[in-house]
Amino acid sequence: MNSLFWLFGLISLAVATFALAPPYGQLKTVGAHITNSAGTPVQLRGLSLFTSHYIPDYWNATSVNQIKCGWNSNVIRAPLGISSTCCGGWVETRDREYKRMKTVIDAAIDNGIYVIVDWHAFSAQLDLAKGFFANISKTYGS
Ligand SMILES: *[C@@H]1O[C@H](CO)[C@@H](O)[C@H](O)[C@H]1NC(C)=O
Ligand SMILES: *[C@@H]1O[C@H](CO)[C@@H](O)[C@H](O)[C@H]1NC(C)=O
Repeated sequence: MNSLFWLFGLISLAVATFALAPPYGQLKTVGAHITNSAGTPVQLRGLSLFTSHYIPDYWNATSVNQIKCGWNSNVIRAPLGISSTCCGGWVETRDREYKRMKTVIDAAIDNGIYVIVDWHAFSAQLDLAKGFFANISKTYGS
């Protein structure tokens, strides 16, 4: 019992101090399946935030932790607002949207869950998308 107590304490300390590894390692696709690094199909389940420029209220670390621990999720979807006349977006308020996305990605990493980085545009905006994903890949690809 006593050693169990200390083990639990050690695990808690490790959790508090370091980012967690995601449950299935590096994901990949095999045929129509999402698999773990060994090729075994896995199931991702979780919630999506609302688009960053319309309802940014939940784009923070507390919410990401709640989505993991309160909803038993292993993935979160982060739909980036690209453009709008009412509320800005990647086109109009880039630094603000980037900060929101970075906050959610960093929190997902800290919580050991996957994050779907969603370029949530209603028209492709291909050149902007390429620049955005080049940046995200450079920053988080590894
Ligand atoms: C995160 O968002 C929720 C909902 O808006 C809020 O209750 C909570 O205080 C926020 N946490 C932080 C750290 O901003
Ligand atoms: C990604 O974009 C942010 C915000 O514009 C910038 O601060 C950062 O340096 C960029 N990172 C890379 C690797 O391009």
